[in-house]
Amino acid sequence: MSDALKYSLADFFYNDSKNVLDPPSDFEEWMSDPSVRVGFSFYEQKLLAAPRSSTEILSNVDGKKRRVINLMSYNYLGLSTHPEVIEAAIEGLRKYGLGASGAPLLSGTYDLHVEFARQLAAFKGKEDCILYSSGLGGNVGAIQGILRKGDVFIMDEKCHKSLVDGCTLSGAKMLFFNHNNMQNLDDLLAKNKGKRILVAVEGVYSMDGDLVKLPEVVEVCERYPNTAIYIDEAHSTLMFGKNGKGVAEHFNLEDKVGISFGTLSKSFGGVGGFICSNAPIIRYLKGYSSPFHFSCAPSPVVIAGLIKALEVATRDSSLRDKLWENTKYFKERLDGMHLDLGGTESQVIPIIIGASGEMLYSMAASMQTRGLFLQPVDFPAVPAEARRFRISMSAQLTKAEMDEALNIIEDVVARGMREAGLLKT
Ligand SMILES: Cc1ncc(COP(=O)(O)O)c(C=O)c1O
Repeated sequence: MSDALKYSLADFFYNDSKNVLDPPSDFEEWMSDPSVRVGFSFYEQKLLAAPRSSTEILSNVDGKKRRVINLMSYNYLGLSTHPEVIEAAIEGLRKYGLGASGAPLLSGTYDLHVEFARQLAAFKGKEDCILYSSGLGGNVGAIQGILRKGDVFIMDEKCHKSLVDGCTLSGAKMLFFNHNNMQNLDDLLAKNKGKRILVAVEGVYSMDGDLVKLPEVVEVCERYPNTAIYIDEAHSTLMFGKNGKGVAEHFNLEDKVGISFGTLSKSFGGVGGFICSNAPIIRYLKGYSSPFHFSCAPSPVVIAGLIKALEVATRDSSLRDKLWENTKYFKERLDGMHLDLGGTESQVIPIIIGASGEMLYSMAASMQTRGLFLQPVDFPAVPAEARRFRISMSAQLTKAEMDEALNIIEDVVARGMREAGLLKT
């Protein structure tokens, strides 16, 4: 295929093949192009050990096993591998077995689920909480369960795909406002005045690491009756705010948020999702939210570990303090290299490379063979002119690991960009 790199997954969504078992006719041809295969070879590389700050992978780049410094994991606080969390999960496994073996309403709810949901509601300062087996399921299920045809769902254009999918299922009108642009949000609210409206934002935007302008969102939404705010705190729970409750706490606006979503797969170190809100709407959701109602409850093993994870993360501020100390150190050193870090305000740090896919992938390969696991992020996940590496900082990273990672970034990314005339100094 000529110019294969001009195309992306965004170009093969519609399928004109005769048989549903056949992908679009040009998709396979595109996927088999050598340059496209290089890009895809970075996906689904096998981790051979726990998601610690140093781990082992079987590299697709050269087929070798190697130890790598891990800047990719959402195990931001190290809770997935915390010894107390592991012990609690082992105990849970012995007592309850591997899976919940039932949907929550009929036979899948264990004492652990009830206790954990109660703890999460109290932590988020809400009346009640509903648990889901995945974060994506939580977002899809909450939006699909609450909104109806005739309602309006307005989300920041950078919100997660799960919110889009939830809205599609709900039949509500779906609108997007330009990222953090309050005038645009206000215009959309004004055009839909009088309807039931839900406005969705993320605490930390996952590809850019910047924060929602929550005080301004609240101010704009309060001008319109029957407008509620939904916040996705996937990348902020346990990290932001005085008590680690998230970005809503950081801005002291918890009571202005109608629905608070969190995932259990990132800072919590497990898997699952949760929604906290007022008790009646949680009761209603339990009846109408398909990923809750029609799906097996989260594994009690994971919930046993998560109860301990919440305790460890909230008994003092040491883990999040360490995360912010590491983030500050790392960012200052990256700033010193004059790299473009976008507008990051969090532990998610993009290094924006620009439009060249070839440069992105060749840098990613070089870093990996030198022992740094830092994956390329390409269009359509991010704009085509802002391809990037996206660092997830971790409280687990030691100074030696950070220095080693920074040396590799300096040698490969900063030097490469300088040589290409893409860095100012
Ligand atoms: C902002 C945001 N919301 C929701 C999700 C879904 O969470 P999970 O991966 O736990 O299903 C993600 C995961 O990437 C996310 O980044």
